[in-house]
Parts: sequence; structure tokens; C-alpha cells
Amino acid sequence: MNSFVYENATKIYFGRGGVREHLAEAVQAFGKTVMLAYGGGSIKKNGIYGEVTEALKAAGKEIVEFSGIMPNPTYRKVLEGKKMVQENGVDFILGVGGGSVMDCCKAISMAAATDKDVWKEYWIERGNVDFEPVPVGVVVTVVGTGSEVNGEGVITNEEEKIKTSRNYPRCNPRFAILDPEYTYSVPPLQTAAGGFDMLSHVMETYFSAPDGDNLSDAISEAIMRSIIDNLPLAIEEPENYEARSNLMWASSMAEIGIIKLGKRCDFEAHMIEHQMGAYTDCNHGMGLAVIHPAYYRRICKDGLAKFVKFAKNVWGIPGEGMSDIQLAYAGIGFFPKLVDLIIILI
Ligand code: NZQ
Ligand code: ZN
Repeated sequence: MNSFVYENATKIYFGRGGVREHLAEAVQAFGKTVMLAYGGGSIKKNGIYGEVTEALKAAGKEIVEFSGIMPNPTYRKVLEGKKMVQENGVDFILGVGGGSVMDCCKAISMAAATDKDVWKEYWIERGNVDFEPVPVGVVVTVVGTGSEVNGEGVITNEEEKIKTSRNYPRCNPRFAILDPEYTYSVPPLQTAAGGFDMLSHVMETYFSAPDGDNLSDAISEAIMRSIIDNLPLAIEEPENYEARSNLMWASSMAEIGIIKLGKRCDFEAHMIEHQMGAYTDCNHGMGLAVIHPAYYRRICKDGLAKFVKFAKNVWGIPGEGMSDIQLAYAGIGFFPKLVDLIIILI
């Protein structure tokens, strides 16, 4: 394995009733005024908003609301959030939602704590974060990105037509509340998209160097098998706790850094999807589901042994009587088959 240094600053509360049990205590240390940030309103329909505001009030917090964070959050929205934090003396940002809400909150936490143009200095350039961002905590309501356990923020600059990410450990959420029941109301198509996103995170890591036997890849194989097993189940039975909880933890495990230890991680399919998203505003996971099979068919000859291992260990193809290239193609071929299965279920 390559050398590494590992640290993850996010405290995780996993399980049913997490907001009711832990939120009031989790926010206690962070000052009086909390900016409650969320998306287009799903949290008001499924009851999450009520549970969160109740816990914040029980903790004696003053709540400032910041709503309307869109999928693929824009830099314009980040600047809107920065203004709200500064004008209201916000001490703590609580993001309640998926990757878009969490990423936007992280970028706001940087923007609100400096006079610099963070897009130019920290997203286009890789600036040194020589200041303390406003602390962020998250309550996850849709899984896939793993944003809850890293310092990454993916932001779209609509004017420049660039969607890009940066991972600053100082932006790691101070805590993440993961209640699988909060994802019961996620529609099938978004559940599938999130499933592909997490699968993509693991595959992009797994197929990066080094390729010799290593523990990170062995853990990756287990995570991929779990996603493949649980994704159709969660779509068929949206309130299946085991399936939703396995997916929720797989999503975090893919991005918490453990499987990336000792790996290079070029994330090529993600780079393609992000730029496609900058022009089309497409759903992130759906974009990846289209890009991956085509991309892997193109590159698999250059890493044949790994694609053979993937076909056997992840998809369970025995491979008797098949050449390596046939086996590699069969493994990649299962990916669109999973898409077909999901389309049938939806
Ligand atoms: O906005 P609301 O009304 O809340 O609806 C959302 C949104 O329309 C809905 N939703 C969320 N929770 C729900 C729910 N609907 C019903 N019930 C619930 N409990 O789901 C829709 C999608 O939400 P979004 O946050 O956009 O999805 P996702 O989590 O897939 O995030 C996508 C963004 O994250 C970035 C992507 O590029 C994209 O911008 N990524 C972030 C990463 C990171 N920070 O580590 C890594 C990823 O590779 C990815 O690039
Ligand atoms: Zn992704």
C-alpha cells in the first residue's frame, strides 16, 4: 500500500430517531443563532422540518431560515447564503438535505468567514484556508454523495459554465445525523440516482492505482456488493429499514476516506459528469450511470486483470470458458443490467 495520513473530523450519529435523540445536544456548543438551510421543500412534506425545528428550539437556539438550495447548487446561491450569515450574525449552519444542501452549506461556511472571492481563490485555485469557516452540521435526507463525511463542496458557476469540487478538511461537518427513516420518502428515481453515485465513488476508487491486492480494494468490493443487493430492495420497498440503512452507510463509507487510503483516486467519470452538469444541469447520479459503462468499455483493456476481478468478486460471474476480455465486458455489462432492473421496478 502507498503511505497515508488519515483523519476525519465528523462525528456520526447513525440510526432511527437521531434528530429527536441527538440534535439538541449536538448543536449545544455552537452559539445562539443557527441558520437552518434546506432545499426545495421536501423536508416540509415529510415531517423532517418539524422534528429539526423542535430540537433546535429545545436547545434554545434562534433559527434563521435559508431555503431553496437547488440540486447542483450555484455560486450565486452560495453568495446569497453568505449575505444571510453575515447580516444575521449566524454562529452555526445546519444543512438538512442531500449533497446539494450540504455542499452549498460548506461553501457558504467558507464565503461568510472571509472577504475573499472563494470561487476564484478556493474552487478555481487551491487556496490555503488560513481562517476558520463558520461551523456546519448536517442532517442527511437523501443518500449517495457522502458529502456528510468529507470536506468536499461541489459548486456550479453558471456564468463560467464550470461545475467543480474542492475538498477542504476544515469544511467537514462537525456532526452528521444519519437516520435511514428520513430517506423513506425519497422517490425511486432519486434513490436509483443516489445508488449509482455511491457505486461510482467506490468504482472510481477501486479502479485507480495501485492494483495489487490491498485491504482498501477488499472493503470496496464488500461495499459494492452491498449497494447492488440493497438498491433494488429499497426501490421495491421504500420503507425497508435494512435496505435504506445499508445504503445510507454504504454512501458514507464510500466517501469517508477509508477505501481511498493508499489509492490514487482520479475520479475521471466524475470529472466528465461535472462538466456535463455545468452545461445541462443533469442529475449527478443519472449522468454517472450513462457515463460509466461507455467509459469502462473504452479503458478496460488497459486494466484487464482488475476488470476481471471486478466481474468475479463484485458481480459473482464464475467466468468458466470465458476469455479475460469477455469476462471484463460481462462485468461492465451487469451495470446497464442493474439500470434495466431499476427501470422495471420504477
Ligand atoms: O430540494 P428538496 O425539495 O429537498 O428535494 C430534493 C432534491 O430535489 C430531494 N430530496 C432530498 N431528500 C428527500 C428528497 N425528496 C424526498 N424525500 C427526501 N427525504 O432529492 C433531490 C436531490 O437532492 P440533491 O441534494 O440534489 O441530491 P444529491 O444528494 O444526489 O446531491 C447532488 C449534488 O451533490 C454533488 C453533486 O455533484 C450534486 O451537485 N456531489 C457532492 C459530493 C460531495 N460533496 O462529496 C460528491 C458527489 O460525487 C457529487 O458530485
Ligand atoms: Zn458522485
